[in-house]
Amino acid sequence: MNFKGKSLLTLLDYTPEEIKHFIDVAKRLKKEKLEGIPHKVLSDKNVVLLFQKDSTRTRCAFEVSAMDLGMGVTYIGPTGSQMGKKESVKDTARVLGRMYDGIEFRGYLQSDVEMLAAYSGVPVWNGLTDLYHPTQILADFLTIEEHFGHLKGLKFTYFGDARNNMGNSLMIGCAKMGMHFTAAAPKHLWPNEALIKTCQSIAKETHATLTFTENPKEGAMHADVLYTDVWVSMGEPKEVWEKRIVLLHPYQVNQNLLNLAKKEAIFMHCLPAFHGKDTEIGLEISSAFGDRYPNVSGGSLEVTDEVIESKQSVVFQEAENRMHTIKAVMLLTLGGK
Ligand code: CP
Ligand code: NVA
Repeated sequence: MNFKGKSLLTLLDYTPEEIKHFIDVAKRLKKEKLEGIPHKVLSDKNVVLLFQKDSTRTRCAFEVSAMDLGMGVTYIGPTGSQMGKKESVKDTARVLGRMYDGIEFRGYLQSDVEMLAAYSGVPVWNGLTDLYHPTQILADFLTIEEHFGHLKGLKFTYFGDARNNMGNSLMIGCAKMGMHFTAAAPKHLWPNEALIKTCQSIAKETHATLTFTENPKEGAMHADVLYTDVWVSMGEPKEVWEKRIVLLHPYQVNQNLLNLAKKEAIFMHCLPAFHGKDTEIGLEISSAFGDRYPNVSGGSLEVTDEVIESKQSVVFQEAENRMHTIKAVMLLTLGGK
């Protein structure tokens, strides 16, 4: 397998064997990090991180991984660069590609991350667009493997807004890795038809299955993994909250839903999550809608505090694994082993 020079824009571009290799290398790097074995093997390289949207995990995972690998790293936030305002993405790509060995991009348009990859001449890593979030899926799958020892054959259910970057990417990942993916969501929040078709043809090869249901209980029944994400994603207007609460409150992952899954099931969330009184938005939304929809009172929206704080929740292990998997992606695509 040769990853050198390759970008990671979507997992659709990678074979199941290559995805497995990213996860295996991440496992090795995690072990080395925990044992204090240094791996500054890319000390002659520099990378730049371009963020049009906010981030905690993705930014920190890229920065710490780059430093662990011995690289120089520049962060460019939503303000403070010329990109998109005075300079096109195409020109930005041609400038940054002459200075840096790799580029991470988080933003809105998948076509922007594709443009960076086409014109920079260096590997580009998608740190989230409206359409996909591929590095998150690698961390999720490492976490699932650590828990169950394998991916193939597991029943994985995604609850909520299934046509966003997370729903799309998890469906692709599950199809690639031979898992049984279910989206439990209102019909018009299922992934788009074309992507479902693409994933169905991948699933034929890998013996994965894809199921779509509007019934959250059916999704939870016998599941190994229950996964959810925020109901309103970055870049969406505040006004959509009301519509989403109306549509998605039955899909909240709470103890009743978790009880329907297998006894040893795990709960996952890419984070950040609204699960209690400690966030401004969570409180604002639950005080606006809590009277009409009692299950969203108290600041818990897509998941309850009880579930996220339960023994079945692996969300912080999952967050840590962002770092180990992102490190594997940078290492391999920059030509390391
Ligand atoms: N899961 C994730 O991408 O988190 P951040 O938005 O904090 O990067
Ligand atoms: N769907 C979420 C994922 C955050 C990691 C968003 O795009 O905001």
